[in-house]
Amino acid sequence: MTADDLKKEILEKTAEYFRLVHGAKTAEPFTPGKSRVNYAGRVFDEREMQNLVDASLEFWLTYGHWSRDFEKGLAAYLGVRFALLVNSGSSANLLAFMTLTSPLLGERQVKRGDEVITVAAGFPTTIAPTVQYGAVPVFVDVELGTANIDASQLEAAWSPKTKAVMLAHTLGNPFNVKAVKAFCEKHNLWLIEDNCDALGSKYDGRFTGTWGDIGTSSFYPPHHMTMGEGGAVYTDNPLLKKIALSIRDWGRDCWCESGVDNTCGCRFTKQFGTLPVGYDHKYVYSHFRRRSDAPSLRSFRRSWKSARRTSRDSMKG
Ligand SMILES: Cc1ncc(COP(=O)(O)O)c(C=O)c1O
Repeated sequence: MTADDLKKEILEKTAEYFRLVHGAKTAEPFTPGKSRVNYAGRVFDEREMQNLVDASLEFWLTYGHWSRDFEKGLAAYLGVRFALLVNSGSSANLLAFMTLTSPLLGERQVKRGDEVITVAAGFPTTIAPTVQYGAVPVFVDVELGTANIDASQLEAAWSPKTKAVMLAHTLGNPFNVKAVKAFCEKHNLWLIEDNCDALGSKYDGRFTGTWGDIGTSSFYPPHHMTMGEGGAVYTDNPLLKKIALSIRDWGRDCWCESGVDNTCGCRFTKQFGTLPVGYDHKYVYSHFRRRSDAPSLRSFRRSWKSARRTSRDSMKG
């Protein structure tokens, strides 16, 4: 028996196993008033199980051709140019936010002490990256009913230090994209849409997560699609994609696929910063910071106090 024959048999047996163990549950007819409607959960059939087994037989384990296919498919579905996989929605939020802190963004780089507008009632990891980095979250209240941002409070939350707005489309309901976008455009602010709850939702005919500069998704089981743990960052902006890819992949400057060398064609011929001419591009890390750049505890406390003050003021206003 060849390896291919054996694999075929394993996959057929997997389908048989699915039908025996899980099939009955998925085939249960829906009875209004009696059947339980789960707000979320894993919905799968034998094909998902076969894919899972197929991937295990390859034993590649890390990012590989399945991930690349998924990134392409997700980008095509959303109608954006780039999608990058990460290990969770929280990591996606962290990566999206950290992308905005790159020096490659010049004046628009989010620096420590800069302000990021978000909501007072939301998911913790929508704001955790802001706090972790040492920028200042400025909280705006939510509307009753949708639990989305009360966009009428945005102007009061703005200050000359504001650099970005980072918000979720809560529980799948789009926030007021028109008002938020107009505000961001007026003040030249980045917009990150935490789309973890809202993959597939549309605002004005266009997918949420694709209106701002960067969108994020979670593929944890309670969301619309699951891979167990998983997340993604998507954008239409090539520079933001370049930065996000670098930060996702250890801060490296090189964008070669794993096992591939010299994609840029000038691996040993360039000068990077103060490194010697010809320094190997594969080992240049452009998004790598010294610990001394990290905020001190004192500046962190100062940021928090100022954030609390600004939020209080904006609530009053
Ligand atoms: C709005 C929002 N953002 C971020 C996340 C975090 O996603 P993950 O659990 O994959 O880290 C969640 C998770 O439920 C979420 O609802």
